[in-house]
Amino acid sequence: MLPLLLLSHIALSFAAPKSQCDLTKVSIFNGSYTVSDGGNVGSRVLYSCPKGSYPFPESSRECLPNGRWTEPEHVFMCRGIVCAPQMTFENGNFPKKRKYYLGETLNFKCSAGFERLGPETRTCQENGRWSGTTTTCENFSGYCPNPGIPAGAAKTGTSYGVNDKVHYRCQSGLFLIGSAERQCMENKKWSGAEPFCKERQKYDSPEEVTESFSLSIAETIAGAKPFCKAEDSGCETDLRKGQPRNLFILLDASANAGEEKFNAAKETAEILIQKVSGYDIRWRFAVISYALEAKTIVNINDDDSGEAQAVIKRLKNFQYKEHGRKHGTNSRGAFEKVYNMLFANANQQRDPLGLLWTQNIIVFMANGRYNLGGDPQVEIKRMRELLLSIKGQNNPDIYSFGLGHDVSLDELNDLATKIDGERRVFHVQGIDDLKRAFNNITEGIEASDACGMTTESTNDARQKFPWIAKINVTHPDGTVQQMGGSIISQNFILTVAHSLHNNNPQSISVTVGRNVALKVRNVYRHPKYNPTGKKDKNIAQSFDYDLALIELEQKLVFSSTVRPICLPCTRGASRALRKIGATCKDHENALFPEDEELIRALFISGKNRDVSEEMNVFIKQGRKREDCLCDVKNLSTFKDVADIKDVTDKFLCTGGMQPVEEPQICKGDAGGPLIIQRKGRYIQVGVISWGTTNSCQAFIRNKVPAGSRDFHADVLHSMDWIGEVTKDELSLVK
Ligand SMILES: *[C@@H]1O[C@H](CO)[C@@H](O)[C@H](O)[C@H]1NC(C)=O
Ligand SMILES: *[C@@H]1O[C@H](CO)[C@@H](O)[C@H](O)[C@H]1NC(C)=O
Ligand SMILES: *[C@@H]1O[C@H](CO)[C@@H](O)[C@H](O)[C@H]1NC(C)=O
Ligand SMILES: *[C@@H]1O[C@H](CO)[C@@H](O)[C@H](O)[C@H]1NC(C)=O
Ligand SMILES: *[C@@H]1O[C@H](CO)[C@@H](O)[C@H](O)[C@H]1NC(C)=O
Repeated sequence: MLPLLLLSHIALSFAAPKSQCDLTKVSIFNGSYTVSDGGNVGSRVLYSCPKGSYPFPESSRECLPNGRWTEPEHVFMCRGIVCAPQMTFENGNFPKKRKYYLGETLNFKCSAGFERLGPETRTCQENGRWSGTTTTCENFSGYCPNPGIPAGAAKTGTSYGVNDKVHYRCQSGLFLIGSAERQCMENKKWSGAEPFCKERQKYDSPEEVTESFSLSIAETIAGAKPFCKAEDSGCETDLRKGQPRNLFILLDASANAGEEKFNAAKETAEILIQKVSGYDIRWRFAVISYALEAKTIVNINDDDSGEAQAVIKRLKNFQYKEHGRKHGTNSRGAFEKVYNMLFANANQQRDPLGLLWTQNIIVFMANGRYNLGGDPQVEIKRMRELLLSIKGQNNPDIYSFGLGHDVSLDELNDLATKIDGERRVFHVQGIDDLKRAFNNITEGIEASDACGMTTESTNDARQKFPWIAKINVTHPDGTVQQMGGSIISQNFILTVAHSLHNNNPQSISVTVGRNVALKVRNVYRHPKYNPTGKKDKNIAQSFDYDLALIELEQKLVFSSTVRPICLPCTRGASRALRKIGATCKDHENALFPEDEELIRALFISGKNRDVSEEMNVFIKQGRKREDCLCDVKNLSTFKDVADIKDVTDKFLCTGGMQPVEEPQICKGDAGGPLIIQRKGRYIQVGVISWGTTNSCQAFIRNKVPAGSRDFHADVLHSMDWIGEVTKDELSLVK
């Protein structure tokens, strides 16, 4: 036996490299294909399938130097596009099927005593994902909301009290991306990121990567959350300058990458560095490549690590062969190098706390699974300890990119940072797709688009709600009225019109962040605001278009405590909603889905003028909105009004006792923003205007009386006016 084995071994190693692959072996069932370069080594087969199906297991293959096509053992076929099946659903039901094909829908019904949150109907889309968000049925008895069961997943754990945990796993054959365990936190939110069950072969398209990655990294860059105490003056630094951002890029140079692919990965890193360095942000770059060993191409502590062109030049000069023996994938070695750089940096800084102020972003690219050096998690844990990562601070912030079919999705997911509503794990077919994706990321990186961002982990209300403005209006009789407002741009505060009886800027003072009273240049009330305009309809005082803009004498300097909130139909909101190129109508559909009767929203309580508090309410739509109108009709003030819609039409309605008792607004809250939170960002949809009851005394909230409803001036449909007044400060989308 032995000699034979040896013989065949020798025969193999002496076989001349083939120059062609067999063209009869590339066919695909029910689909078609094209071959580039006539089947020579390096040529590619591209498959296409009829609408509603996709090429399985891959959409292309390549002729290798051994004369074989990649994936030789697979029969290629067109498979129908399916979405992950909903397996179970809590406190409700849905028509259960084993498979859901493109265009098919899921319909959710909640059991008696439960309210549906999220869409009633979800549709299986072209990309194999369900439209809309995860639907839940709520009875509002938990401290945290029901975290839901994503399609393809099963959940264990049904208690939603503080510190309670739920666990998820995906149906066999699907990979869990996101958090397998989530915990109900004190801020009434779940830790980590909602899981998503991914089919291995379903790659992210370059467009999907561009969209999610550019927006997430833009957020990290623009909204870098410094670690600092309230009294540190450094906290007030301009968003664009301030502390440097460190970007570590980890490239896979192992044998299964190959020289050509490694060079493509180098180019991808160059593109990333080039793109992010185009902005007025202080960067430091590091590039590490890893195979059997990890090699530092650029160290964060090098003198030229902040100069993009110098970094790119050194990257270009690095040769694949410098790795020598390439068998093995030591990703832990790469993460260890990152740790060492951070450690050295901490020691060489005159101000050791400086490191804590620095946002560290790691972009990890992998072709295969790690097989040497051990689990890279160990190094990440050491980094977190070094950076004294505050809970929720996400430093280091790790993105992982898997290339091709050899990667371990579980490993990539373990490494990546988990942030709700954002993606840090990407799986693309090959490096070329990643290159294409990175080429387009610039769109998303603009510090001025950093609207509606907060530092969740802080107790400082000014950092938690940095867009809050406090307004004092001195009336002619000398009385001072307090009201709320929101920062929407460097020069403008949005508030209500009804307390600004005269347009005298001297009678108004505004405070934001830690600032003392700011001077006002001008006041603009909505031109259609006309309190006496509906007397003929027996409405003594109409609040329609109760909106005003206050123009400040001096531009605000944005920082972690002074920052604008997003407004719908602006470029900033497109980013916040992760919808590049979205129209105003798209924003409306995303914020107010038609089939949802209860839309989670919040306002900031002025109960105590220093310790602001988040108050959770629901905007009522559809049938639920009718109940709001009934409560208005009952008011004696409106007993002679024929059509109550004349009173309520221009407003969003919150409050009431059903399905859950909601906190009511108090007098001094007027002018403050009504906010919808999406994907970790805050978008203002209303301005608090009026309510049916007023039982608060000097911001002390009493028991909510029956029939209590609150009304908020609609912002989305007033954006034309807001855009006109603020001129080019907000980039409106049509
Ligand atoms: C594929 O083609 C075969 C006949 O060649 C047909 O029976 C089958 O239904 C087709 N499958 C799909 C998914 O179109
Ligand atoms: C709410 O629903 C849960 C089941 O999810 C149940 O255990 C609880 O008793 C219900 N609470 C109320 C107040 O109905
Ligand atoms: C990049 O942007 C161009 C122009 O906007 C677009 O045509 C192309 O599809 C984008 N590519 C990706 C991968 O997003
Ligand atoms: C607003 O009025 C309150 C109460 O009168 C006062 O404490 C506060 O200092 C005033 N703020 C400004 C900016 O004038
Ligand atoms: C409103 O009025 C209707 C009848 O006019 C009554 O049934 C209902 O209880 C009233 N609601 C409140 C909150 O007073």
